[in-house]
Amino acid sequence: MDFTMVRRGIVVVCLGLFGYVLVTLSGKLALRAENAADRVAEAYQGFQEGKCKSCHPAIWREWEGSMHAKAWVDEIYQEVASQIADRETKCDQCHAPEPILITGVGKMPELRNEQRETGVSCLVCHLDAEGAMHGPQASAETYFHANVTDPIYTAPTKLCSTCHGQPTVPEHDQISSFLNSKFAEGNKSCATCHMPIVNRLQSTASYESIKGRKHTWRGSRSVAQLRRAATLQLEILPEKVNVKLQSKTGHILPGGTLRTIVLEIAHLTAEGRTRQKKRISISARDENRLLPDENRTYVFDTPSSATGDTITVRLMYQLTPKTPESEWVLMAEKNHVVP
Ligand code: HEC
Ligand code: HEC
Ligand code: HEC
Ligand code: HEC
Ligand code: HEC
Repeated sequence: MDFTMVRRGIVVVCLGLFGYVLVTLSGKLALRAENAADRVAEAYQGFQEGKCKSCHPAIWREWEGSMHAKAWVDEIYQEVASQIADRETKCDQCHAPEPILITGVGKMPELRNEQRETGVSCLVCHLDAEGAMHGPQASAETYFHANVTDPIYTAPTKLCSTCHGQPTVPEHDQISSFLNSKFAEGNKSCATCHMPIVNRLQSTASYESIKGRKHTWRGSRSVAQLRRAATLQLEILPEKVNVKLQSKTGHILPGGTLRTIVLEIAHLTAEGRTRQKKRISISARDENRLLPDENRTYVFDTPSSATGDTITVRLMYQLTPKTPESEWVLMAEKNHVVP
């Protein structure tokens, strides 16, 4: 046997292996470009090409159906913003922001020049200036991006307040009322109600299921969320009804300034004829929104009650002043038949 031949063979195999490793590394370490700005640009490109979606399909689907994904394309937003002369400095920066880890958590976001239609995208909440993804504890490494464990995600109220509680934008403030409430005690945060806990693989490249949170952010478009927002109780007294409302929402209710909650009390005869019907609006416009956990009693006179009459109280949610009554959402209802 010729030893030189064997040795040459080993050298060739080694070189080949080395080359293979080099080629795969340079191909796969997409976000490991030399320059931080290039890695950030590659994250944008990867987002656009569906890379985040392919490795994080469950989170992607949830985000895609959320109002964060629609924060720019949302017709209600575009309609209102189109009436603002300097919307680029007053409005658009939160509806299509630069990544907030880059512009500063807690600071007023800055308007993004690319991919505006993707609204509050994954990159807005996770990408840093180095091209790494910040998040809660991760169990696996990934060759596509670096992971940085950052405690701000575990109780993300401060992250959320970057857009949901800017002092100069009181129209969009869910934070102040939350911070002053029992809902902020202990480990509770905005995520407690808006990002339910779920055990799952965080990506298709993960090895084990770990505790994460759903990226659904259900709010005022969710009937289930609206049914949890407040409770309604009736106290029937001679010639009057006390309607007791208690807010179960972690912040001022309704949370947005475009919304109205309508409290309706109807007094019907046994035959279904209306004796009286009254409505009260609860909204920012009426300056009577409910504070978190607030108990409020409305008193209605029912002097003409007769046996068999029905008193019906309903709590309804109107998304915008233009939403027709047929589309209001029933939040709670109570009936009482006069004995
Ligand atoms: C500090 C960040 C920020 C700024 C600046 C901002 N918004 Fe918003 N906007 C939000 C957040 C957060 C929400 C969701 C919470 C809410 O409705 O309060 C929202 C929701 C809205 C909605 C409700 C959309 C719906 O789903 O019905 C409208 C309309 C809107 N914004 C218009 C505007 C207009 C017009 C401006 C400029 C005058 C503006 N926003 C400026 C953060 C911002
Ligand atoms: C090649 C697959 C792959 C691609 C592509 C990918 N990720 Fe990941 N990502 C992972 C893996 C693996 C983890 C770690 C998951 C685990 O611990 O189970 C992860 C974790 C994360 C985390 C959590 C980090 C932490 O420390 O908690 C975030 C946020 C994230 N990815 C966002 C993104 C975004 C945004 C994109 C698109 C720009 C993206 N990922 C593209 C595989 C990928
Ligand atoms: C970079 C800005 C930004 C950050 C950070 C942010 N949001 Fe939002 N959020 C928005 C905007 C803008 C909207 C309004 C979208 C619309 O309706 O047009 C919104 C809407 C929402 C809604 C309303 C959904 C609905 O259907 O009514 C909820 C709930 C919500 N955000 C919760 C959160 C929570 C919880 C956090 C923190 C984990 C958070 N947001 C972080 C900008 C942000
Ligand atoms: C409004 C801000 C926001 C947006 C937008 C957002 N995330 Fe997150 N993400 C969070 C927060 C807060 C957590 C921490 C949840 C927890 O405690 O587990 C998180 C956690 C994660 C994790 C860790 C696993 C888990 O479930 O906790 C991954 C992976 C992740 N996000 C990927 C993504 C991807 C991919 C997108 C886009 C499709 C995205 N995120 C959009 C705020 C956001
Ligand atoms: C105890 C549960 C709870 C907590 C904690 C909570 N929310 Fe909500 N949130 C709700 C409920 C219920 C609704 C639906 C009623 C409404 O629209 O106000 C809601 C609605 C919203 C909306 C939609 C408002 C609108 O008009 O469309 C936004 C935005 C929001 N929450 C953001 C936040 C943020 C940011 C935090 C943290 C400061 C937070 N929430 C904490 C229960 C909670």
